[in-house]
Amino acid sequence: MEITIDVLENIQDAPCELLLLADPSEEKVKEYLNRGQCYIATNELKTIGVLVLLRTRPGTMEIVNIAVSEDVQGKGIGKKLVSYAIDKAKEQHVTTLEIGTGNSSLAQLGLYQKCGFRITGVDRDFFVRHYDEEIIENGILCRDMIRLSLDVGTPSDR
Ligand code: COA
Repeated sequence: MEITIDVLENIQDAPCELLLLADPSEEKVKEYLNRGQCYIATNELKTIGVLVLLRTRPGTMEIVNIAVSEDVQGKGIGKKLVSYAIDKAKEQHVTTLEIGTGNSSLAQLGLYQKCGFRITGVDRDFFVRHYDEEIIENGILCRDMIRLSLDVGTPSDR
């Protein structure tokens, strides 16, 4: 499927439904949309994916949201968005790209590791502490945030 990825010019046009697919907290989504860089994937003018990148610490960027429309999932669009995030990180001289996902998000853990991310840690009970609603995926209670990261370059690559 042919897709185009572009920066979102106006936050008001953010695809809320997609963003909430990846993160059920409307409040958190609003907060990082204001601070981060939002990109939209389109196919024949239809928005089918979203990516939000946030500069966190010096040299570090985090994928804080990534989502693909349910009707076109499993066609490689998620991988393209991750690859785009890696390109953006390199462009901005970032050395480490990070992502966090739930212990129950098995497909996401598969995708990120296939894209080269390695597990760096576990934020135990993150979802219990930060989300009001219980999240269950693949029959597993989502409690812990699995942190992953990818080295995208060293300062000497700049
Ligand atoms: N075990 C191992 N690998 C798995 C897997 C599993 N259970 N489930 C999926 N994968 C792999 C696929 O095999 C594929 O890799 P391959 O091409 O080498 O076979 C890859 O993960 C999926 O790639 P792709 O088709 O590019 O993903 P997608 O377009 O469906 O997008 C998401 C992935 C996560 C963005 C999408 O499913 C989504 O929007 N989900 C809802 C929102 C969400 O959870 N966002 C992330 C929050 S952390």
